[in-house]
Amino acid sequence: MYINKLKIGDVELQNNILLAPMAGITDLPFRMICKKYSNPGLVYTEMLSSKALFYNDEKTKKLMNINGEKRPIAFQIFGSDPDVMGKAAKIVSQYADIVDINMGCPAPKVVKNGDGSKLLQTPNLIEDIVKKVVKNTNKPVTVKMRKGWNNDSINAIEIAKIIENAGASAITIHGRTREEYYSRTC
Ligand SMILES: Cc1cc2nc3c(=O)[nH]c(=O)nc-3n(C[C@H](O)[C@H](O)[C@H](O)COP(=O)(O)O)c2cc1C
Repeated sequence: MYINKLKIGDVELQNNILLAPMAGITDLPFRMICKKYSNPGLVYTEMLSSKALFYNDEKTKKLMNINGEKRPIAFQIFGSDPDVMGKAAKIVSQYADIVDINMGCPAPKVVKNGDGSKLLQTPNLIEDIVKKVVKNTNKPVTVKMRKGWNNDSINAIEIAKIIENAGASAITIHGRTREEYYSRTC
């Protein structure tokens, strides 16, 4: 493995080891333990619902706690309404060094609302979402996506180009399809 410095937009990372965002796992204590023992160049919050941020939900506010934490920290938001995503980006930008958009979550309760990996099937919406988020933050915007919805629709390259043209600074690809969930080797 090659350990190098990495730059995302104007944010300099000490190394290219990134702690993946994990809902229910990457909370403040977990991130602090990881930073203490393996010093990743970047850590992510758990995914935060843009709607919940928009409606000022108390539980979601707790997920934004970064008290005493070393920077940089990426805040991951999810949703499919460009305006609501823009408003959520504005809120998290008060604390985040990077704003990351979730386009990979395969959970039925997320997908049924058109969010997470479902966005891979609506490329036009992706452009609007990334543009709105970029417009509403002065932080670098990144996207984490899957390689496609299923094996008949591997569209990561097409989607990545849309995301890049819409102004994102970096893209992470989870090398599975939505239908693969977390199974099969990448
Ligand atoms: C419990 C769990 C929760 C996850 N939650 C998120 C999430 O909130 N946002 C996200 O983009 N990816 C999420 N992921 C995906 C991971 O960030 C990562 O991309 C994925 O596990 C691929 O790495 P692996 O092949 O080592 O498992 C989650 C994965 C796991 C196992």
